[in-house]
Amino acid sequence: MAVMLKDTTLEKIRRAMKCYPDKRSACMSALRIAQLDDPENRLTEQAFRHIADLLDMTPVSLHEMAKFYTMYNLEPVGKYHIQVCANISCSLLGAEHIIRHIERILNIKVGETTQDNKFTLSTVECLGSCGTAPMMQINQEYYEDLTEDKVGSILDSLE
Ligand code: FES
Repeated sequence: MAVMLKDTTLEKIRRAMKCYPDKRSACMSALRIAQLDDPENRLTEQAFRHIADLLDMTPVSLHEMAKFYTMYNLEPVGKYHIQVCANISCSLLGAEHIIRHIERILNIKVGETTQDNKFTLSTVECLGSCGTAPMMQINQEYYEDLTEDKVGSILDSLE
């Protein structure tokens, strides 16, 4: 089989597999590791095939799981993937204003990436931080109790 994932990525996945009683149980961790190590921050068809081979699963079952969770990217995203929660608590506390504000600042719409490939903007369902709504996730970090001013500062701080 041709090498599809980097050796360092494979080593991380093999380490993760040791934390689970059954290798298939490591599927979500394996997908996350592969995505984090991908230069475009996404899961490729080659990654699905390679991980399926490692875990004795089918690429289709991994792909279906990845489609269900917004934490997995099936398309390339920018260096910073902004995911704004648009579910009920965040909506009631102004998520729509936050989304429109980010669109204005970055000159993109939801689902788009800036021309310099720095930011991708998405909306997602509840991220489990309803008590600090409105909120967003950028890559692995949560940003909470958002205001338009706060969002501007956060985006300015990202290099
Ligand atoms: S509704 Fe936004 S984090 Fe739960």
